[in-house]
Amino acid sequence: MHRSTVANTNKRRTSLLILALFLSDISQTISSTCGGNSATAITTDAQAFSAFEYDYLIVGAGAGGLAVATRLSENEGVQVGIIEAGIFHEADPLIDIPSNVGQTLGNPMYDWSFETVPQPGAGGRSITLPRGKMVGGSTGINNMAWSRASHAEYNAWELFGPNNGWNWDGLLPHMKQPANVFPNKTDLPIVNSELYDPKYEGFSGPVSASFNSWYSDVFPSYLAAANSSGISPNFESDKGTTAGLINCRSDVERNTGTRSYAAPAYYCGHASLPNFHVLVNSQATRVVLKWSALSGSYVATGVEFSSNNTTYTAISKKEVILAAGTIQSPQLLELSGIGNSSILKSVGIEPLIDLPEVGENMQDHVFAPAQYQLKPGVLTFDALRVNTTIAAEQSAIYAQNRSGMLSGTDTALSFLPLDLYVDSETIDSLKRSFDTVLADNSSSAFRKMQYEVQKDWLQQGLVPQSEIIMWSRAVAPLANESYVTLLSGVLHPASRGSVHIESKDPLARPTIDAGWLIADFDLLVVLQTLKFAMRIATLEPLVSMIDSLVLPPPNVQNDTALIEFIHENAASASHPMGTAAMAPRDLGGVVDSSLTVYGTTNLRVCDASIIPNGIGTHLQSTIYAIGEKLARIIENENAHNADETR
Ligand SMILES: Cc1cc2nc3c(=O)[nH]c(=O)nc-3n(C[C@H](O)[C@H](O)[C@H](O)COP(=O)(O)OP(=O)(O)OC[C@H]3O[C@@H](n4cnc5c(N)ncnc54)[C@H](O)[C@@H]3O)c2cc1C
Ligand SMILES: *[C@@H]1O[C@H](CO)[C@@H](O)[C@H](O)[C@H]1NC(C)=O
Ligand SMILES: *[C@@H]1O[C@H](CO)[C@@H](O)[C@H](O)[C@H]1NC(C)=O
Ligand SMILES: *[C@@H]1O[C@H](CO)[C@@H](O)[C@H](O)[C@H]1NC(C)=O
Ligand SMILES: *[C@@H]1O[C@H](CO)[C@@H](O)[C@H](O)[C@H]1NC(C)=O
Ligand SMILES: *[C@@H]1O[C@H](CO)[C@@H](O)[C@H](O)[C@H]1NC(C)=O
Ligand SMILES: *[C@@H]1O[C@H](CO)[C@@H](O)[C@H](O)[C@H]1NC(C)=O
Ligand SMILES: *[C@@H]1O[C@H](CO)[C@@H](O)[C@H](O)[C@H]1NC(C)=O
Ligand SMILES: *[C@@H]1O[C@H](CO)[C@@H](O)[C@H](O)[C@H]1NC(C)=O
Ligand SMILES: *[C@@H]1O[C@H](CO)[C@@H](O)[C@H](O)[C@H]1NC(C)=O
Ligand SMILES: *[C@@H]1O[C@H](CO)[C@@H](O)[C@H](O)[C@H]1NC(C)=O
Repeated sequence: MHRSTVANTNKRRTSLLILALFLSDISQTISSTCGGNSATAITTDAQAFSAFEYDYLIVGAGAGGLAVATRLSENEGVQVGIIEAGIFHEADPLIDIPSNVGQTLGNPMYDWSFETVPQPGAGGRSITLPRGKMVGGSTGINNMAWSRASHAEYNAWELFGPNNGWNWDGLLPHMKQPANVFPNKTDLPIVNSELYDPKYEGFSGPVSASFNSWYSDVFPSYLAAANSSGISPNFESDKGTTAGLINCRSDVERNTGTRSYAAPAYYCGHASLPNFHVLVNSQATRVVLKWSALSGSYVATGVEFSSNNTTYTAISKKEVILAAGTIQSPQLLELSGIGNSSILKSVGIEPLIDLPEVGENMQDHVFAPAQYQLKPGVLTFDALRVNTTIAAEQSAIYAQNRSGMLSGTDTALSFLPLDLYVDSETIDSLKRSFDTVLADNSSSAFRKMQYEVQKDWLQQGLVPQSEIIMWSRAVAPLANESYVTLLSGVLHPASRGSVHIESKDPLARPTIDAGWLIADFDLLVVLQTLKFAMRIATLEPLVSMIDSLVLPPPNVQNDTALIEFIHENAASASHPMGTAAMAPRDLGGVVDSSLTVYGTTNLRVCDASIIPNGIGTHLQSTIYAIGEKLARIIENENAHNADETR
C-alpha cells in the first residue's frame, strides 16, 4: 500500500497519545538527571568518536540499546560505543515531570513522529506513530506504565527461539534486573496495596518502579464500577497471570518525583566509566559488512553514520548491535543489504543476505476511546489544564516535596479474557473470524505458526485478549471541564504490518504500513471491549460522577455506527514489535536465539523488533529484559570462547 494509491481525502492525523498536548506545560526546576556527572560519557564530536576503535558498537540509546551497552561496559576490558540520533535531555521538565506526559509528542527535538501510509482498517487515515529520539529512546516519551505479560506469552517465544531460555523462567531473572520496586508496600486504598510476592520483583535494578502517590477522584469510583462489572482485582500481575484489574507501578522515582527512564536509569550509572562512549546527534546510516570466506558469512566491521551532514565510519572489533527500535532496526538492515532481495534491488541496494521477513511481521495494540465529561468539581489531570489555581497549588506542592498531581500517572489497567464480558455466541463468532485468518493460505509459514499459538490462547481463554486503560483526563477536551477516558484495545491482533525503505537515501523515512484493524477479528475485539467499557461507565459509583458522554458521539447507538467510530478514531498504543523477529531462518526469522542476524557472525539486534510473537502488555520492562539477557548471552559466549582457546 503506497501513499499514492489511496485517496487521501480523509487524512486526519490522530493518536490517542497526542492527547496530553492539551495539558498545560508545567515548568519546574528539575535537578540534574544524573546528579552531577551526566555528560562525561557523552560526546558530539563525531570526528573523535570515529577515530577510536570499539569492541562493541551499539546503534540507538533506547530501552534495549542502553540496557545491553551499559551491562557490556561493566567489563572494563572492553570499549563500548553507542551512536544515538537524538540528544541527551538533561534536567528537562517536559520529560522528567510525570504530569507533562505527552508534551513532547510531535516535537522533533524528542520524537521522530513517524506517520503510516493511509490505513484501510482505520478509515483511510495516516496515523502518527511516535518514537522517542534521545538518550533514553521511547522510554523518555512513554506513558510510564510498568507491566509484564503472562507466562504463556513469553513461553511461546521459545517455539521460535529454542535453547536459549526465551521463556518465562529464562526471562524472569532479567525482568527483575532492571527494576527497583519502591516502595514495596503501601497502605494505598487500592488494588495491589497489600499482596505482592517479592520473588517476582527486582529490588536493586536501575529503574525505579513505584506506585503512584496521587490519584484522581475518578480512580476509586472506576475501581468500584469495574469490580461491579465482574473484573477481579489482580494484586500481583508480575507473577505471570495478568488477567484482572491492576494498579500498575510507574517508572517514577518517588523521592525526586521524576521519570525513571533509560537515561537516568542505565546511562547515568555508567556515565563515568572510561570505556563507555555515547555519540549523540548522529544517525547511523549503514552497517559495514565484509564477506568472510572462512566462516561463509558476513562480518560486521563497523557502522557508517551521518553527523552534521558529514558521513563517518566507526570501527568495531567484536560486534555491532542494532537497537534502533521496531521501525529503524529493519530500516538499517535493509540499508545494509539485508532483507527481501527484490525490495533491496528495487531501490538500488545490492542484496547481501536474503532475509525476506526483514520489516515484515509488525504487530501492535490498537485502542479506541470512550470519553465522558465529569460533573463540576471532580478532580482529574484536566485541572492542571483548566484551573490555574489548582495548577499553581500543585506546582507549589511539587516544588516542596515532589509529590501531588505533577508526580502522578494513570495506572488503572485491566487485562481481560473475552469470556468475562462477551457472550458465548459472540465468542464463537470471534473464533470463526479468527479461523478465516488461519485458513488464509497466503500467510507465510511463520505467520501460520503464530496464528496457531494465538488460536490456542483463544480456545483456552486464559491469555487476556483485550485491555481497558482508564485515563483521568480527556483525549479530546471540548471545554474547560474534567473528563475520564476509557481506552479499549486488542492485545493479540491477527493483522500484521510492515516497514520498508522506499529509497536508498538513509536519511529518508521508511514506509510504514501498520496494517491496523485489517482483520475483522481485531475490529470485533475492539468493538466488544469498547461496549464493555461503556457498560462500566453506566455503573455506580462512576456513573454518578459523569455529566455526559463525549465520545463516541451520543448518536452512535448501534454496532454499525460503533464500528465506523472505531475506524475513524482508533489509534496505536505505540507498541510496535516483531519486524526483525527471532525465529528459525527457514521459517522467515531474521535473528537466531542469540539475536544474531542470519548470514552474519557478529551483527545482532536488541530491541522490540526481535519479539517473535506479540505480547499483550506495555513493552518497556520486557525490552529492558531483552537487553539484560543479551548482555548475559554475550558474556557466556565470550567465556565459552575463552575456554576453547585456552
Ligand atoms: C508514546 C509512547 C507511549 C508508550 N507508553 C508505554 C508505557 O506506558 N509503558 C510501556 O511499557 N511502554 C510504553 N511504550 C513503549 C516503550 O516505550 C517502547 O516499546 C520501548 O521503549 C522500545 O524500546 P526499543 O529499545 O525497541 O526502542 P526505543 O526505546 O525507541 O529506542 C530506539 C533508539 O534508537 C535511536 N535510533 C533510531 N534510529 C537510529 C539511527 N539510525 N541512528 C542512531 N540512533 C537511532 C532512537 O533515536 C531511539 O533513541 C510507549 C511508547 C511510546 C512511543
Ligand atoms: C523491599 O523488599 C525487599 C525484599 O523483601 C527488600 O530487600 C527491600 O529492602 C525492600 N525495600 C524497601 C524500600 O522497603
Ligand atoms: C469486588 O470487591 C469485593 C470486595 O473487595 C470482592 O469480595 C469481590 O470479589 C470483588 N469482585 C470481583 C469480581 O473481583
Ligand atoms: C557543522 O558543519 C558546519 C559546516 O560545515 C560547521 O561550520 C560547524 O562547525 C559544524 N558543527 C559541528 C557541531 O560540528
Ligand atoms: C544539512 O544540509 C541540509 C541541506 O544542505 C540543510 O538543510 C541542513 O540544515 C544541514 N544540517 C545540518 C545539521 O547542518
Ligand atoms: C519480497 O518483496 C516483493 C516485492 O515487494 C514481494 O512481491 C514478495 O512477496 C516479497 N517476498 C516475501 C517472501 O515477502
Ligand atoms: C479551581 O479550583 C478551585 C479549587 O477547587 C475552585 O474553587 C475554583 O472554582 C476553580 N476555578 C475554576 C475557574 O473552575
Ligand atoms: C507534600 O506536601 C503537601 C502539602 O504540604 C502535603 O499535603 C503532602 O502530604 C506532602 N507529601 C509528602 C509525601 O510529604
Ligand atoms: C488458496 O485458497 C484459495 C481459495 O480458498 C484457492 O483457490 C487456492 O487454490 C489456494 N491456493 C493454494 C496454493 O493452496
Ligand atoms: C478555557 O479557559 C481559558 C483560560 O481560562 C480560556 O482562554 C478559554 O477560552 C476557555 N475555553 C473554553 C472552551 O471555555
Ligand atoms: C445505526 O446508527 C446510525 C447512526 O445513528 C443510523 O444512521 C443507522 O440507521 C443505524 N442502523 C441501524 C441498523 O439501526
